[in-house]
Amino acid sequence: MGFNFQHNTSLKAFNTFGLDVKTAVFCEVDNLQTLKQALSETDQTQMMFLGGGSNVLFCNDYNGLVIHNNIKGKQIIAETDNDIILKAYSGEIWHDLVMYCVDQGWGGIENMSLIPGTLGAAPMQNIGAYGVELEQVFVELEALNLQTFELETFNREQCQFAYRESVFKRQLKGKYFIYSVSIKLSKQPKINVAYGDILTVLNSKGIDPSNATIKDVSDAVIAIRSEKLPDPKVLGNSGSFFKNPTVTVEQFNALQSQYPTIKGFPQANGVKIPAAWLIEQAGWKGKQVGQTGSHAKQALVIVNYGHATGPEIYQHALNVIESVYAQFGVKLEPEVNLIQSVSNS
Ligand code: EPU
Repeated sequence: MGFNFQHNTSLKAFNTFGLDVKTAVFCEVDNLQTLKQALSETDQTQMMFLGGGSNVLFCNDYNGLVIHNNIKGKQIIAETDNDIILKAYSGEIWHDLVMYCVDQGWGGIENMSLIPGTLGAAPMQNIGAYGVELEQVFVELEALNLQTFELETFNREQCQFAYRESVFKRQLKGKYFIYSVSIKLSKQPKINVAYGDILTVLNSKGIDPSNATIKDVSDAVIAIRSEKLPDPKVLGNSGSFFKNPTVTVEQFNALQSQYPTIKGFPQANGVKIPAAWLIEQAGWKGKQVGQTGSHAKQALVIVNYGHATGPEIYQHALNVIESVYAQFGVKLEPEVNLIQSVSNS
């Protein structure tokens, strides 16, 4: 019996930019067996997985198969007086999982509240926000090898996490499907309020940071994100469009002497600069170009004002990259995955 594929399907509801792009073939999977069946009946050279669609820009229609991951479920696989290890399946909505853990009193991921997307995408790009990255709670993941159809386990080291990076975006790109992720959470959580904005919100609510709970931190992060980042249901977007670039210390010093207000965060390999600052200085913040533009409250976010097309947003991103490079000599790299489908015809 053949698999239930849909043809010429709109992806509007499956990408947070809200782009009305089409995929030649579409299917949804909610368990491993169905996924293997779909894979066995398709040409894997023209295929992609889609979770929450919150980190992709479809530059044009997709000329292949889009597999929407709806594999859900979670279970505790180990527990001590101090910690639990929670294993969850990759189609779980990340924010729902964060809320579940906060409700249970399990700490570790509350700073990453309200990040859109699915759990499966989290290790792919080592999601992070407000001073915490996934790798800090990560234990292991199971991924389906797309050649052998066997599940393989990857520990933290094997995932090669870095800032918005993992082996699954690099050497193993397109070779695995992330099936489950296990994270370690604390039953006696210590909160992390090192990121200045969180302290500001706690203070404004009269909450003493030394008594703050993970729920307080989660609420503060939700308040900050809701203020700065547009709700994709209202204004299509994919969060930060670019990564924050790291430049050499020499380059940073040269920039600082020319632009004294520039911020820099020292890293092992140089100085990280807020891309939003560069974009703002280059004059893009709040600037609308046709149906797209750079968001007025957070310049790192590119938005769809309603009827933008993939090529239009892509062109805007290229224009931003070009003008930031012309002014500062710093090359911005997209954080979102650019899907540029090659036509068969
Ligand atoms: N800034 C500007 N102009 C702006 C916005 C920010 O100059 O329009 C400057 C400010 O100086 C600010 C600095 O940039 O101090 C940092 O801004 P913010 O705290 O908003 O963080 P970000 O570096 O712009 C990163 C992540 C976000 C994450 C926040 C909070 C990346 C690419 N983005 O943004 O992640 O929520 O930190 O931790 O690392 C995402 O990945 O989609 C995302 C939203």
